Amino acid sequence: MNYFPAEPFRIKVVEPIKMTTKEERAELVREAGFNLFSLKSSEVYIDLLTDSGTGAMSDYQWAGMMLGDESYAGSKNYYNLEKAIKNILGFPYFVPTHQGRAAENLLLSLLVNENDYIPNNMHFDTTKAHVLHKKGIPVDLVIDEAYDPTNNYPFKGNMDLTKLENFILDKGTDVIPLIILTITCNSGGGQPVSMENIKGVSDIAKKYKIPFYIDACRFSENAFFIKTREPGYEKKSIKEIVKETFSYADGCTMSAKKDAIVNIGGYLALRDKDLHQKASSLAVLFEGFPTYGGLAGRDLEAIARGLEEVTEESYLNYRIGQVKYLGDKLIEAGIPIIEPPGGHAIYIDASRFLPNIPQKEFPAQALGVELYIESGVRGVEIGTVLAGRDPRTGDHDYPKLELLRLTIPRRVYTNNHMDVVVEGLKKIYQRKDKISGLEITYESDILRHFTAKFKKI
Ligand code: F0G
Repeated sequence: MNYFPAEPFRIKVVEPIKMTTKEERAELVREAGFNLFSLKSSEVYIDLLTDSGTGAMSDYQWAGMMLGDESYAGSKNYYNLEKAIKNILGFPYFVPTHQGRAAENLLLSLLVNENDYIPNNMHFDTTKAHVLHKKGIPVDLVIDEAYDPTNNYPFKGNMDLTKLENFILDKGTDVIPLIILTITCNSGGGQPVSMENIKGVSDIAKKYKIPFYIDACRFSENAFFIKTREPGYEKKSIKEIVKETFSYADGCTMSAKKDAIVNIGGYLALRDKDLHQKASSLAVLFEGFPTYGGLAGRDLEAIARGLEEVTEESYLNYRIGQVKYLGDKLIEAGIPIIEPPGGHAIYIDASRFLPNIPQKEFPAQALGVELYIESGVRGVEIGTVLAGRDPRTGDHDYPKLELLRLTIPRRVYTNNHMDVVVEGLKKIYQRKDKISGLEITYESDILRHFTAKFKKI
């Protein structure tokens, strides 16, 4: 049995969660049209829908909330966050935003023109949507290992540097206004990007004079993987690794709902003064005055404090350890997951779990429904339902991987909760041949996964 570090905190406040019966859940999910987004959170026992905004703040963060300076302009919490971003990430300028996608909106509105290409290791949905919204073309250039669920390569989030350079040579630098690197790579299973690769992307960006930005939602989880997996970084502190990571970039977009452990917030951090000025003007239109950016002063303070806490090694040891705990137990039980376990979630490979359900009958969605009925656990489908339809053919835009993501909120659940998830999946695995697929009865044109309704086949 591996050793998993115990929580480096004790629990001061608890929130009761309700256990329902299997019969009740079967009825509730039927009423929800077999869409887990339509459930009330009170109907869920263990909620692994997302790690975004679902973390537990510390007493230090809550205490900071009481020191919120709610002045319209020049709030002292803005300056505290500015200091944290300078100290921890090394960027001189920033604009607070209400969450990560708002930072993407500011950056991409300023840089992207119609028909521009935006290379990324893998775009997260909101980044992709914002690129498309600005009439740009998102391009994923992750290494091939990312698409092989059983390949245990330690940095499966890496950008394929050869593909990137060839792409630039093919299209020309005029139509590539920026390169983005998403750390860790959420769409690829929460897989990390190595420092060597971050530097490699930066070198290519410099060579061709293309700005280089990091989608930094899970930057400290990525730093932990660098420390524990990349030769030469064992003895470096997380803070040193984080500093080096961002030293290669021109800026970053951040959803503070992840690796700043707050319930709402984000920012765009920058090195360029002129771009900062432009982003600040745009922020007034979309977010608010640049010293609050769609947030309350107290939120800014919680982010500043969260950035400190999330770069503590004892926290990351426990955090990544808990995700690995769940992953290892599932592997031990023979349940197919994306290996190795990622930083914030375990992704069940539904195609291998339910080989009898064809992709057109949504195996990952069916598995999510089954897990909810079995154990009251809510995961999220990252497969055909999420991918939507190909606008040209009208058919489903079948993705390479059909996954059920079990996303672990930060500092919220214990390993006993993880055991409930494992036991539920084991039971389902035993009766997997009896599980049927789903058929869509309603879907919307855009982002259908949130509201689609299904019936069992
Ligand atoms: N980039 C990445 C890699 C993300 O995972 C997310 C959000 C965003 C940007 C957007 O940030 O939600 O604050 O606007 N991911 C969440 C998830 C929603 O469940 O994976 P946001």
